[in-house]
Amino acid sequence: MNFTLEQTSATSVETQCLVIGIHDASSLQGTAKLVDQLSGGELLRLIGTGDVDTDWKSTTMLHGLEGVSATRILVMGCGDTDKFDPVRYDRVCTSAGAFLRDHTASNALVCLHELECGMDTEWNLRQAAIALDKANYRYTTTRKPREGGHEPLVSVSFNAAENFAPALLEAEGFAKAFQRSRELGNLPPNICNPAYLAEQAVEIAKSYDNVSADILEKAEMSELGMRALLAVSQGSENEPKLIILKYQGADQDQRPVVLVGKGITFDSGGISLKPGPNMEQMKFDMGGAASVMGAFEACAHLQLPINVICIVAAAENMPDGKAYRPGDVITSMSGKTIEILNTDAEGRLVLCDALTYSRKFNPVAVIDVATLTGACVIALGHHASAVMSKHDDLAEELVEAGTRILDRGWRLPLWDDYMPQLKSEFADMKNVGGMPAGSVTAGCFLSRFTEDMRWAHIDCAGSVWKWGEKGGSTGRPAGLLTQFLIDQK
Ligand code: BES
Ligand code: MN
Ligand code: ZN
Repeated sequence: MNFTLEQTSATSVETQCLVIGIHDASSLQGTAKLVDQLSGGELLRLIGTGDVDTDWKSTTMLHGLEGVSATRILVMGCGDTDKFDPVRYDRVCTSAGAFLRDHTASNALVCLHELECGMDTEWNLRQAAIALDKANYRYTTTRKPREGGHEPLVSVSFNAAENFAPALLEAEGFAKAFQRSRELGNLPPNICNPAYLAEQAVEIAKSYDNVSADILEKAEMSELGMRALLAVSQGSENEPKLIILKYQGADQDQRPVVLVGKGITFDSGGISLKPGPNMEQMKFDMGGAASVMGAFEACAHLQLPINVICIVAAAENMPDGKAYRPGDVITSMSGKTIEILNTDAEGRLVLCDALTYSRKFNPVAVIDVATLTGACVIALGHHASAVMSKHDDLAEELVEAGTRILDRGWRLPLWDDYMPQLKSEFADMKNVGGMPAGSVTAGCFLSRFTEDMRWAHIDCAGSVWKWGEKGGSTGRPAGLLTQFLIDQK
């Protein structure tokens, strides 16, 4: 989707659809007020008769209004003025986007940023553009477009001054992050396997002069002693890949931010096989990888003045005669040994070697992102990613970034009190910590490989995809990560 700024008065622009927001009859503002005046009070009359709904997120399409150049006017209800906050604003923009996607209009002039939700105009503009772009997305790669579907929105203008261009450029970066992340997430596991993720990384590298990609193959990983990562993939016909993307936006000697993504392209559970129902959803188990790749791409698109390294541990977890098994003891790249109690706790195994590998870049911060535990969905549902770190400042930065972009994260503790749950008779630790605090003990496991590093772990098991019929990848937490990277400058 293409974003532009428009300085002509909103009511005199030739557009297929003018989008305005209203709270109630007594508070018409900006373009909504102008529309009412130019149409001889038509808008207020329609609110009065109940033909225009003012409830939060409601939509009414008006046609051929006198005095206004737009072919149509989409009136978005915003509900109570006092309840109208950034989240409500964002949802109004999303509803407008979904409505436009399903109706005739391939361009629109959007005035929703005129609404007051407690943020500044830059934020309003950026958020509206991102929400419209996200709502406009439809997965079509392996299917025919829906019957009777309408043209998607192609271009959106906002009536705002030229000096707001940077806000729209940033929105473009976020849009790219979410698009990349969602598309990778939604692709089926027979297409999006470790080799495919590696190819996509190479594609990203080709698009920017200051981006390069390195792919480590099985033999090289073996050489480095990444036996935890290799154990997970050894039951699969699809070879693992360790994908390294490098972006140089600052001096070479400036320490990079390293993002590490769990890239399990399908998680069957391995020998500790998962139950059949909903197993297809485990194609989303590379959601962490997808979001770090998306955020990385946004960083390159925005040419942020920092250095960033993105590491994806890509593998498939399958049961097979060669598969790793419960009872196995594996030596990780760090030298620490791990007793496998459950082959379905595979994410932490691929991540521990990727995290050990990340040390060579001497990072200012390392953030790993993973659909790591079902327990995270129990704790936070689908609304927040879990943020864990022993570094309060880093945890706060991540939570704040998520709040700003409304791709929210919420903190869980990583206290040493939980550590004993990982004790093993036969190795330095086991790969599961039992039922209590499953997400925290997974984080504790990873903390054993990140000692002395400024590190945070994000469990995005609940936020990466929407369960159910209208489900699919959300692209999260690519937004949180992109905001975090923007804030690093
Ligand atoms: N990929 C799953 C976690 C997951 C489950 C994410 C459901 C989203 C929805 C992970 O590899 C896994 O299987 N974790 C186990 C860990 C357990 C065996 C300690 C889990 O959460 O059940
Ligand atoms: Mn698993
Ligand atoms: Zn998994």
